[in-house]
Order: sequence, then C-alpha cells, then structure tokens
Amino acid sequence: MATDFTEETAADAVVESFATTPDPRLRELLTSLVRHLHAFVRDTEPTIAEWERAIDFLTATGQKCDSERQEFILLSDVLGISMLVETINNRTTVPGRGGLPGGSRGMESPRGSARSSSRASAATESTVLGPFHMVVSPRRALGDTIDLVGTGPQCVLEGRVLSADGTPLPGAELDVWQANDQGFYDVQQPDVQPAGNGRGLFTADQDGAYWFRTIVPTHYPIPTDGPVGTLLEATKRHPYRPAHIHFIVTAPGHRPLTTHIFVAGSPYIESDAVFAVRKSLITEFTPADDPGQPARAHFDIVLLPES
Ligand code: BEZ
Ligand code: FE
Repeated sequence: MATDFTEETAADAVVESFATTPDPRLRELLTSLVRHLHAFVRDTEPTIAEWERAIDFLTATGQKCDSERQEFILLSDVLGISMLVETINNRTTVPGRGGLPGGSRGMESPRGSARSSSRASAATESTVLGPFHMVVSPRRALGDTIDLVGTGPQCVLEGRVLSADGTPLPGAELDVWQANDQGFYDVQQPDVQPAGNGRGLFTADQDGAYWFRTIVPTHYPIPTDGPVGTLLEATKRHPYRPAHIHFIVTAPGHRPLTTHIFVAGSPYIESDAVFAVRKSLITEFTPADDPGQPARAHFDIVLLPES
C-alpha cells in the first residue's frame, strides 16, 4: 500500500526514489543532499512567499552568470563553501610531522632562506582561486615587474619554492596575479589597464628562488552588482577582501598549489568577505628606509609531493 507523503516520511520517500542510481557516489550525494535540505525545511518552516523568494534569488543568480561572470561561485564564496571544499581537498600536513613553514620569513635573501626552510614538514596552505584568473599570464623573467602602469607603492617579492622536506624545486612555475592600486584586475578594466597588468608567469631558478617587482596590493570589494551583492547588503555584510597577491605554483612530481599571500595589517584581514585568509599566508611588506626604494616581502612556498 502506498504511504502518504507526510512531514515525517518525505525525506525517506525522496531518498528511496534514488535507490536505483547506478553510480554509488551520485546516490550518496543525492541522499545526503535530500536529507539535509529536508531537515533545513522542517527546521525553518518557510512560508510559500519565502520559498518563492529563494527560487527568485537562485534564478537571478543563474541569470547573472555568463562566460565572464560566475555568480554561483561568488555565492559559494560568501557562504564559505568554496573555502570549505578547498580546505577538505588540500589538507597540507605530511603524516607524522609537524610545523607549518611558509608565510612571512622576514627579509632573508632567496639563498639565505634555504636553511630556514629545510625543516619544512608541511605544505603552504591553499586558498580560493577567485574569478579573475581568466587569462594566461604573460611570461616574465625573474626580476621583471608585473606592474605595467607605474602607479602604487612599489615592492619586491621574493622567496623559494621547496618540497615538503626542504629540497628546493628548480624550475617551479609561478603564475601570479593581483589587482591594481585601485583594487581592479586588468580584466575588469579592459579599457583602462593594459592586458597583463598585474600578471606574470615566472620560472624559479636553479635554487628554487623567485623574485619579481610589483605594487603593494590594496584591499578591494568583490563584485556587488548582482544577487550576491543584494545578499551582502540585506545582511549588512561588507564586500571587501584584504590586500593579497594570487599564486598558482606547480613543479614536477608535486601537487599544484593555488594560494594567495596576504598583506599583514591590511584592512579586512580579520573579516575577508570570502573567508579565504589563513594566518600562515599573512606576510609583512616591509617599507624601505629610503622612501624612493621599494618595500620588500619574502614568501617561501612549500609543495607536497604527489602521493
Ligand atoms: C579574488 O580574490 O580575486 C576573489 C576571490 C573570491 C571572490 C571574488 C574575488
Ligand atoms: Fe583577488
């Protein structure tokens, strides 16, 4: 005999409907999704008008997406889901060892940092990719600047790419990108900034060292002209990300790393709109004694061997 659809039996009925799903992982995901969604609805008891409002919000989120804008990822970002998925998929500690290298290491030279990093036993932490890695970064030589405009406070960023046991990784590739001094990426201002401004693809030298010039980045807001902006406004949350530089670092035999370095003391370092700050990634940008000289920052990057 058929069972009535009731508040008590609803979740079981829907889960049961997926029992024939051949792919066991898909069945697991759908079962859990249904159980959590039904629990949420039983818990919050939305009115029909609230349910319609939610559908309208998700519809508008989809309608805001195109080949350059991904409002669903932005929604995932501000709900902390992107960072949670990132964290689960990039656990960084080598089993049986402790300590966290990477992050700020003062102003050692690239060579000088080898010793301090030889005790490395865990990888540099990852963080979200973000929406602005949309183009291939221009290849640049070590020491080049990625700032094609010349506005903003200059700095030199240097460090080494190392394996988890402290071995340097010569030839590691570093793809870096950042916003300009007004907080915009080149792709957001194609008529204002030259293509490739704030971007560079570098190859570490025979010691795994890298260094390049850029500007000290500034904090900036995530895009707020869509449903995610409406959500932030309705909840009185600010849209800002603390100042940062993005990295994707790769080396043969190692897991690729997507991360940022964050500028110590930046506004919003304690309240990133997308929850992407990790303490180990906060780096001092030390101003030069001579104001005509660039600030300096040092950041070693430790990659986990492929398992
Ligand atoms: C970014 O850092 O580029 C970013 C990350 C998440 C959402 C929006 C922007
Ligand atoms: Fe960014």
